[in-house]
Amino acid sequence: MRIGVLTGGGDAPGLNGVIRAVVRSATLTYGWTVIGIFDGFEGLLGKTNTKQLKPWHTRGILPRGGTILGTTNRGNPFAVEVREKGRLAEKDLSETAIRNIRKLRLDAVVVIGGDGSLAIAQRLFQKGVPVIGVPKTIDNDLSETAVTFGFMTAVATATDALDKLHTTAESHHRVVVVEMMGRYAGWIALEAGIAGSADVILIPEIPYDMSRVCRKIADRSKENCCSSIVVVAEGAKPLKGEMAVVERDPSGYAIHFSGAGAAVGEGIRRKTGMDVRVTVLGHLQRGGSPCAADRILATQYGVKAVELVARKKFGHMVSYRPPEITSVPIKKAIRKLKLVDPAGDMVRAAESIGISFGR
Ligand code: F6P
Repeated sequence: MRIGVLTGGGDAPGLNGVIRAVVRSATLTYGWTVIGIFDGFEGLLGKTNTKQLKPWHTRGILPRGGTILGTTNRGNPFAVEVREKGRLAEKDLSETAIRNIRKLRLDAVVVIGGDGSLAIAQRLFQKGVPVIGVPKTIDNDLSETAVTFGFMTAVATATDALDKLHTTAESHHRVVVVEMMGRYAGWIALEAGIAGSADVILIPEIPYDMSRVCRKIADRSKENCCSSIVVVAEGAKPLKGEMAVVERDPSGYAIHFSGAGAAVGEGIRRKTGMDVRVTVLGHLQRGGSPCAADRILATQYGVKAVELVARKKFGHMVSYRPPEITSVPIKKAIRKLKLVDPAGDMVRAAESIGISFGR
């Protein structure tokens, strides 16, 4: 067998761990050949950009962030941006990609990606390409799996940032607003907010009331706590307002969020008169070495993906259903995003220890 492997969409800590596990298990357990495809689906277009990966190519990459294969979140073969007569247009080049997969003599393609890349994988599968999906995203918003790799590292990075911001906020008696990634889901903000003892956590799933946020901060001042930490997910929105999206794709899906933290910071400053600073964690959450739990999950995901190829379970995605690593049809996983339940145990635990969600 010859199998291809690619990483698509935004990077996440643990990608190299999955690549390593795919290469080692396919080669050492099954005696197959693994072809690395560079820069997501883009590597399957034009002249193709690939390289055979042997176990020694993966030596030392487990603790490394990023992806040795490169990635892009703009490489959709069904809608490739091309310049025609000086104008930008979208072209469906999926047949080229499929032809190239045949030319490369690939018996299967392992797609490591989030909802966007897996949606592309599903469309290729419907056109006859034998694909296997591996769920990746720091946002943890993919359905049908308890957790995506990369998420736990992002939470650890964000928690570490909160620990640092507490000390400077306390010294200056300030309110520090910290914006975190997550798109339409508040998982990173919620979990890092709890782990980093935030006073307020604002997430897209619970639209906030600014006067309640400010009341919480004012109550803390009365108790002699003159500093507060407010965690804001990038997709958080006020009760009567919109998400801070600055760029959308033609279907209306948000590509670029920016400004949620600044809006909350400005609201608090105006209403309370307190000294407020805003920190945007941004891509720090995507970088760096994966934590131990993500390295283990990435390894198990990679091994399972190869096992699914062996069992010809194409069109399936690896899934973690503790304590088992199992699989689900990709189409089921991409149907809807996995969001925080506003009435769920984690939110209720946070509220019962005094954390405000601005509701
Ligand atoms: O989906 C992962 C993610 O990091 C989101 O949390 C964030 O909104 C987005 O990607 C940022 O993407 P880009 O790297 O294109 O700015």
